[in-house]
Amino acid sequence: MENILIIGAAGQIGSELTLELRKIYGNGHVYATDIKEADRDVRESGPFQLLDVMDDKHLIHFVIRHKITQIYHLAAVLSGNAEKLPNAAWHINMDSLMNILEVAKLVEDVKKVFWPSSIAVFGPTTPKKLAPQVTTMEPVTVYGISKLAGERWCEYFFRRYNVDIRSLRYPGLVSFKTEPGGGTTDWAVEIYFDAVRKGSYLCFLNEDTKLPMMFMADAIRATINLMELERSEISLHSAYNISGPSLSPSEVAEDIRRHIPDFSISYHPDFRQAIAETWPESVDDSLARSHDHWKPTYDLTKITDTMIGEIRKMTENK
Ligand SMILES: NC(=O)c1ccc[n+]([C@@H]2O[C@H](COP(=O)([O-])OP(=O)(O)OC[C@H]3O[C@@H](n4cnc5c(N)ncnc54)[C@H](O)[C@@H]3O)[C@@H](O)[C@H]2O)c1
Repeated sequence: MENILIIGAAGQIGSELTLELRKIYGNGHVYATDIKEADRDVRESGPFQLLDVMDDKHLIHFVIRHKITQIYHLAAVLSGNAEKLPNAAWHINMDSLMNILEVAKLVEDVKKVFWPSSIAVFGPTTPKKLAPQVTTMEPVTVYGISKLAGERWCEYFFRRYNVDIRSLRYPGLVSFKTEPGGGTTDWAVEIYFDAVRKGSYLCFLNEDTKLPMMFMADAIRATINLMELERSEISLHSAYNISGPSLSPSEVAEDIRRHIPDFSISYHPDFRQAIAETWPESVDDSLARSHDHWKPTYDLTKITDTMIGEIRKMTENK
């Protein structure tokens, strides 16, 4: 029997991943935790508890008490927020991961760990198009540096202590359930909300800045598929590239006009433009696809139709 711990369950990914895992493993077996209250679906469909991943003693007690067998560690300071407080972001991103790796090493019941990496591991010297799985990686943001160091630590704990840790380099994730958490691709969520609610959007990136993106349902499927693979099928314990469509703000704006013909967008790039310019436009995810655990199903049209439809429903029900 599996008992799953999700850390960061109130966030953009955790709030959806928790509900999907509860469908598979049973509500009572998926423990959602965060340092802030999660939304009602997460709190009411199964166990939810406040837990600070930085508190290593509380963490290990929790894992032992609930006989946890799998951990999804989603707590992090994202790219935009990390640039505002680099030291604090490094501390939180690295120490939280080290706490999880230590627990997985010490507690025999814990069989698998998921920890997400990001396309932020790449930098200005990485090929812009179809960034390969193994390539030059010289990230220039504190977030990217922490994710690259995290990947190396994951691989180290696998080789040295046999900890089965699995990871994906997520692109920017588009979803409607929970607000994004301060990343450079947050525009790809905000644009849909503002389109429906205001008919206009002021974008913090330039119109032609193209970045790898993915719809949340695809990211969750890729994550659960990866965690369900037999250990022998996993060839990488650092992080797999995965990708969906590459999108720029002007392309998304044009697609939104299929639903909202008068939608207008203006551009006022801020510090996140410089971050975006160091990331690739697209990534090569052929290794992940060869394991048959990854194939995106949402293109731009399907993302736009879903986002506009769901946000309209949410707005009408308010
Ligand atoms: N959302 C994306 O587009 C994206 C892209 C690439 C990688 N990722 C990675 O995926 C993971 C989850 O991202 P997200 O978008 O859901 O982030 P988010 O900011 O929306 O959620 C993170 C959650 O972690 C919680 N948290 C912060 N500090 C904590 C602590 N000390 N203890 C327990 N919980 C704590 C926060 O309260 C928040 O609810 C992160 O590692 C992020 O780097 C996200």
